[in-house]
Amino acid sequence: MSSPTSDKDFYKIFGYITLGIVILAILIAILSKVFASSVSNDAYDDVKQTATEERLASPEKINLASNPTFKSEVIEVASSKSGKDVYNSVCMSCHMSGAAGAPITGKVDQWTVRLAKGNDTLYSNAINGIGVMPAKGGLMSLSDEEVKLAVDYMLEESK
Ligand code: HEC
Repeated sequence: MSSPTSDKDFYKIFGYITLGIVILAILIAILSKVFASSVSNDAYDDVKQTATEERLASPEKINLASNPTFKSEVIEVASSKSGKDVYNSVCMSCHMSGAAGAPITGKVDQWTVRLAKGNDTLYSNAINGIGVMPAKGGLMSLSDEEVKLAVDYMLEESK
């Protein structure tokens, strides 16, 4: 059985098999490289890159006015007038002269009956209108809060 020829054959076959395994290993290595590059991270890198750029983009590019929260805050800040401002610009026209029977600001006796109704009633009448007086003195863009401040101012001036 152990003739020199068969030993030689064995080494030959063993050599081929070894060579085959080595070639296969090299092939697998090459293939894996090829596949790895074709399934590269390029797409992911692009997404990452874009996201990073968006995050780093200057804030002026972000349209904050389109953000409802921010928008209402801006409007809130822009329009928060003091009671005196509102009174001077809207209410004074009637309440200084007493036009159309408006109780005159500063004339204490003209307010006693009205004060007896309680502030909440005065607020809601000023906001919703009463008799000849239009709601919010005719300036509907005023917030309820601003009308209340104006009422507070009028009452303060009429003590
Ligand atoms: C167009 C004229 C006019 C303007 C402008 C006006 N008022 Fe009057 N207001 C009146 C008249 C008239 C009355 C009396 C109504 C009644 O008692 O029938 C009155 C009454 C009131 C009263 C008393 C309400 C009550 O329940 O007795 C308050 C408070 C008041 N106004 C606040 C305001 C405020 C605040 C403004 C400004 C935002 C304003 N008014 C602007 C005409 C006006």
